[in-house]
Amino acid sequence: MRRLLILLILLICLLVPSRGAGLAVNGEVEMPEPERLIALTFDDGPRESTTGRLLDGLRERGASATFFVVGEEAEKNPALIKRMIAEGHQVGNHTWSHVQLEKATPTVALQEIMQTDALLKELLGEGTYWLRPPYGLIGAGLEKKIQVPMVKWSVDPRDWESRNTQKVVQAVLKDAKPNSIILLHDIYPTSVNAALQIVDALQAKGYWFVTVEEMLRLNGITPEAGVLYRTGAGA
Ligand code: NI
Repeated sequence: MRRLLILLILLICLLVPSRGAGLAVNGEVEMPEPERLIALTFDDGPRESTTGRLLDGLRERGASATFFVVGEEAEKNPALIKRMIAEGHQVGNHTWSHVQLEKATPTVALQEIMQTDALLKELLGEGTYWLRPPYGLIGAGLEKKIQVPMVKWSVDPRDWESRNTQKVVQAVLKDAKPNSIILLHDIYPTSVNAALQIVDALQAKGYWFVTVEEMLRLNGITPEAGVLYRTGAGA
């Protein structure tokens, strides 16, 4: 009878899923919290010198992200764009030449968006390539014409300004919470370093790094064309 009890306890120990060391705190097994979702987004790339290293780091960590690419950079780096999709990331549109949409004429603004959309369809096949307007700005008139979901952000560490890894990491960790959309730029080595440190720090707190689309869907939200999303919990 006693042997049976020991066997049973052993079996339970083996069957309880463990993450990392499977920490037992006060006799309770700490379980992962899949509701802690967060999305890293990277704008303005891709660049050969930085984006490849970022993709390596994300792959090592099992983290997904969303890349809003500029058409003229994507055209120069088609292999990186294909790699993003192959490795489970989301690819979106950040215009052809990073034009300020609300200041451009309607014809130029639409052309900038459509040219990048066409390139992404050529490289990746038919699909819905979401839009992040440069500077997060889009005029009301143009917004009505957009036939894909749009993404802004809720955490902005201004990585392009400081170009300082530690400042970027600290700014993000201070503001990040479940369903945050974090704005970074994969064209700066400091931002790539920061992103990987952010993944390490937040994964240790039980966060799961997913694409913006995955985050919305996991929160029960069906992404709608023409809607600007600022967090994974909704518009
Ligand atoms: Ni940008």
